[in-house]
Amino acid sequence: MSTPIETRAGAYRAVLRRIDDLLEDESDWIAAMATVACELHHAFDHFDWTGFYRSEGADGLVIGPYQGGHGCLRIRRGHGVCGTAAAESRTVVVPDVWEFPGHIACSASTRSEIVVPIFGRAGRVMAVLDVDSDQLDAFRVEDVQGLEELCRDLGRRFG
Ligand code: SME
Repeated sequence: MSTPIETRAGAYRAVLRRIDDLLEDESDWIAAMATVACELHHAFDHFDWTGFYRSEGADGLVIGPYQGGHGCLRIRRGHGVCGTAAAESRTVVVPDVWEFPGHIACSASTRSEIVVPIFGRAGRVMAVLDVDSDQLDAFRVEDVQGLEELCRDLGRRFG
């Protein structure tokens, strides 16, 4: 069952506060990504895969810490939902992955997806945060706002 809409904004406030506390004295980016993936994944029932892809070179993304089933290891910029978010420097919400041309299916059960870029120095996309759901049209404005706030903070701290 998905976290009810009326409690989702409150759940984001709670999880973002917890992440903030956990990362307070942390300067290691991998430790931060692992902690964020874990905290987010266990905070929301509609999250079935929660993790990071890191920019590598001019046009590659490489998997980072994640929770959930096996994720594909490398994605080319401009490909799939993650590569599109990285190439276009914007959050991409896909209510139905079957309708997204070029969606990369790491799991056959994924039905919807949100990918949020993390901007480092000089506005470069240093990584993307990818969340997949087994539910159709699982992501709402609260997810966009909560995850974008988190990613802005991560970019400021670790970029
Ligand atoms: N579905 C993503 C690929 C990553 S996995 O789902 C973990 C995409 O289309 O970019």
